[in-house]
Amino acid sequence: MKRNLRFSYAFVLAFTATGLFSCIQTDPNSPGYEYMPDMYYSIAYRPGEANPNYADGKTNQPPVDGTVAQSHDSLGMINFSSFPYANSPEGREKAIAELKNPLGQSAYHLDEGKRLYNVYCIACHGKEGKGDGPVVKVLLAKDNYGLQPPAYSSDQLKGISEGQIFYAMHFGKGNMGSYASQLSAVERWQITRFVQTLQNPVGGSDSTATAADTTASK
Ligand code: HEC
Repeated sequence: MKRNLRFSYAFVLAFTATGLFSCIQTDPNSPGYEYMPDMYYSIAYRPGEANPNYADGKTNQPPVDGTVAQSHDSLGMINFSSFPYANSPEGREKAIAELKNPLGQSAYHLDEGKRLYNVYCIACHGKEGKGDGPVVKVLLAKDNYGLQPPAYSSDQLKGISEGQIFYAMHFGKGNMGSYASQLSAVERWQITRFVQTLQNPVGGSDSTATAADTTASK
């Protein structure tokens, strides 16, 4: 009987000690023993980490010599980084003469152009491109800070080419900023299509395609 009791004490003591010691951990954030930990830890290298797989021991490798940064959108069109026209009077003249809208005549592009115009351009140029957007109206009430754009249908703008419209969005003009980082080349060409309908709003366009598209969008 006495023996049994001593054995029980020893057992309880051993059990408690095991329990207590199993709680002692050097890292309080460690969950302890992990069952099959393989998937928890990524074996990928972080950019700044040393990497024995490369001769120079770095994970971040420089681009191959002669690499030219390219940025193509979904239609394979070149975006900002490699626009082949300079931001200069000569570059502008060249772009105006050469740049052609590569998008087809589908009503989809025109609709998208209208949607994007209403997001990005309407604030200054106004719903019908008359240069009477809400921003301009507020500013004009105080002072004209040179922010009022001419109407697209004005003598100054009604004849400008699609290349000139695209170029204006690419580099900006005067008080208008560049939209090249916000709108892809495709989106800028879609907007260009819509702006063309505002240049000749009463259907007096000399381009039948534009006149037909204006009807299609309504
Ligand atoms: C902050 C106001 C503002 C916004 C927003 C704006 N524009 Fe303009 N835009 C102007 C002003 C001001 C001018 C006149 C610039 C000049 O001739 O000095 C102008 C001129 C233009 C011209 C004539 C370019 C030329 O060669 O004479 C086009 C085309 C044009 N904008 C298209 C757009 C399109 C498309 C958008 C939207 C993507 C847009 N603008 C957004 C203010 C704005």
